[in-house]
Amino acid sequence: MKILVTGGAGFIGSHVVDILLESGHEVIIYDLEIPVYSQNCRSIAGDVNDAEKLNKACIGVHAIYHMAAQANVNIFLNLPVISNLNTSNSTLNVLEAARNNNVSRVMLSSTEWIYGSINNDEDTQITEETPYAQNPDHLYTSSKIAAELFCKNYKTLYGVNYTIMRYGIPFGERARPETVTPIFINKILNNEEITIHGTGSQTRQFIYVRDLAEGNAACLKQEGENQIFNINGREVIKVIDIVTTLEEILGKKAKVKFIEDRAGNYKGRFISSNKAERMLGWKPKYTYREAMEKYVKNIIQPK
Ligand SMILES: NC(=O)c1ccc[n+]([C@@H]2O[C@H](COP(=O)([O-])OP(=O)(O)OC[C@H]3O[C@@H](n4cnc5c(N)ncnc54)[C@H](O)[C@@H]3O)[C@@H](O)[C@H]2O)c1
Repeated sequence: MKILVTGGAGFIGSHVVDILLESGHEVIIYDLEIPVYSQNCRSIAGDVNDAEKLNKACIGVHAIYHMAAQANVNIFLNLPVISNLNTSNSTLNVLEAARNNNVSRVMLSSTEWIYGSINNDEDTQITEETPYAQNPDHLYTSSKIAAELFCKNYKTLYGVNYTIMRYGIPFGERARPETVTPIFINKILNNEEITIHGTGSQTRQFIYVRDLAEGNAACLKQEGENQIFNINGREVIKVIDIVTTLEEILGKKAKVKFIEDRAGNYKGRFISSNKAERMLGWKPKYTYREAMEKYVKNIIQPK
């Protein structure tokens, strides 16, 4: 299949490109940035909001992974207009290019944030049937909800097929340095203090980026057409467990300072990816511990 990946030079996109290439697909990266990872495929330096260029790039393409977005929620907060252009508006451009070029499917990168921080009750199971957050607490969330709705509109109005993939919190090789796992690793290695709000018992679900990329590739199966899938890890990890796991792997004690809990600190809930396992046969290959070992080994001795 000929597949265009917007945002294919980014953290998650570059891993998706790797897996698609390993599966024998022809891949074109379409990104503002020149890819820095040595991927053996064509790359177009372009803006998703440049409709003419995107249209041309989509000639003869069978599927588009639309991964380009403003994924850094802090930048989104500081630069809302341009961030929304790159996130939800860009989705309209991709859908329009797909419509013009009879592309068989648009695969949208979305996020578990669209569920909002409902029910801080750890017994709550979230599935793809759980409604969108009624009062999204971040512009990023609203922008991703809009992007999802545009996909559904384009199916109903113009017959453009979609697959929506709602990711959990990814970690692994090529992660942005300002995310929690690289921050903790660097602090432990440099003997710097890690600050944890409350007791560290808040929980999160992490997904190893390589497993996430495999999940993206699985969504391309016929069964994934016009479906929504949560692509998330299966373990619930306490924030303090991140530290203890890293201490064991790095063989070094962390300096941890516990401070007062933040008001309304989000305690976590469980997002089920059973649908992806049932319909696509996808589930994460690595446990949290195994993935972390691989990641640490690769960043300390990068290949
Ligand atoms: N990283 C996360 O925690 C996370 C979680 C859930 C969902 N997502 C989603 O997954 C996708 C990939 O995220 P990531 O973490 O790899 O982000 P990233 O910032 O590493 O990669 C995004 C890529 O998109 C490109 N891009 C941005 N605007 C563009 C435009 N207008 N035209 C062309 N290219 C453009 C950037 O140059 C970058 O290479 C995003 O849609 C993001 O919202 C990310």
